[in-house]
Amino acid sequence: MSIDVRAVRDQTRGVLNVAHLNNAGSSLVPRPVAETVAAHLRREEEIGGYEAAEEAADRLHTVYSSLARLIGARPDEIALAESGSRAWAVAMHSFPFVRGSRLLIGRSEYTGNVMALRQLAQRNGLQIVVLNDDPYGQVDVEHLQRELERGNVAMVALTHVPMADGLVNPAAEVGRRCRAAGVLFVLDACQSVGQMPLDVESLGCDVLAGTGRKFLRGPRGTAFLYVRASALGRFEPLALDGLSAYSSGAEGLEVRGDARRFESWEACIAGRLGLGRAVDYALDLGLDTVQERVGWLAEQLRTELAAVPAVTVHDHGITRCGIVTFSVKGSEAGNIRARLAEHRINVSVAPRPSGEVQSLLSGSPHVAETVVRASVHYYNTEDEVLRLVGLLPR
Ligand SMILES: Cc1ncc(COP(=O)(O)O)c(C=O)c1O
Repeated sequence: MSIDVRAVRDQTRGVLNVAHLNNAGSSLVPRPVAETVAAHLRREEEIGGYEAAEEAADRLHTVYSSLARLIGARPDEIALAESGSRAWAVAMHSFPFVRGSRLLIGRSEYTGNVMALRQLAQRNGLQIVVLNDDPYGQVDVEHLQRELERGNVAMVALTHVPMADGLVNPAAEVGRRCRAAGVLFVLDACQSVGQMPLDVESLGCDVLAGTGRKFLRGPRGTAFLYVRASALGRFEPLALDGLSAYSSGAEGLEVRGDARRFESWEACIAGRLGLGRAVDYALDLGLDTVQERVGWLAEQLRTELAAVPAVTVHDHGITRCGIVTFSVKGSEAGNIRARLAEHRINVSVAPRPSGEVQSLLSGSPHVAETVVRASVHYYNTEDEVLRLVGLLPR
């Protein structure tokens, strides 16, 4: 099966306004998602927020099963959150680290996560070890192996697809090594979810964080956290509320038994329903089919870019995805972005990952070189790709 590009564009109002190649930022939501969100808000207007939530209870329930299907998990292993960073941080801050233990991370960790890591390290007296890249720019699994063998590793935290690089880290291999060493593996899948199939069994991760608005095409302010049932008991939720814990006799509190222990009671119900609709939309298309189309379009873009003498494409990795990063000799990335925006082509500007994590961790000033990030989705067309490249300074 392949993507019916005309059909998905017909369901994407935004394509009439813009050539949207900023899907790694936030995708254009498809019409069914927008309608799901709007319809629920309408019910809140008509009958009241609590009453509308009650009416939608069954559909809200299926959001968990949809997400579970998306990543090969169980519904009770899923918690919803308002952002990928928050989902990730809630799990990290809920882990009882032993002082002096080591936390292994990749070189292309998400900037926001690195800030949280610094805080975690300071609070818990942790040592953060940044793993080398291999010659392809991916995390070096042999270095990981050596560090695992040295011992005293609390967990491995890795970003599956970096914010500003087309590479897909070999997460399944990392998961295999972590499992063999009996070390917890936390995967940030914010940029990979929605553009490729994910399966927590084959990835071997114990925790996975994903966000709704990027390649999943959900509404903003939506995200999810997966925690493997067998690992759940190892986390003590950072802050309890009326959803995450029950009062239990004289003893006090009992934390709920599923992953929703990480959620807060109050939430944007319309957004959550919209997220569920976006997941179903992706599942209906098929994530293999999505990955094939996204990968193909991104390669078209890289090939066209490489033919422009002033352009350098920066993507690393053996397996690549829908994120394409490049720079143009003699032109600031911000100016390229502005020029494309004048022609209603959306791209973004991102820091080049190299060296950033180390300096962020040490707190030393680092003026990051910036690159243009053009991120394609299945609803983009070859024509949009060619228009982008045609507008670059020669
Ligand atoms: C790799 C990666 N991880 C995590 C995040 C954070 O997601 P959110 O903005 O939903 O917190 C981003 C956002 O850009 C990202 O690129």
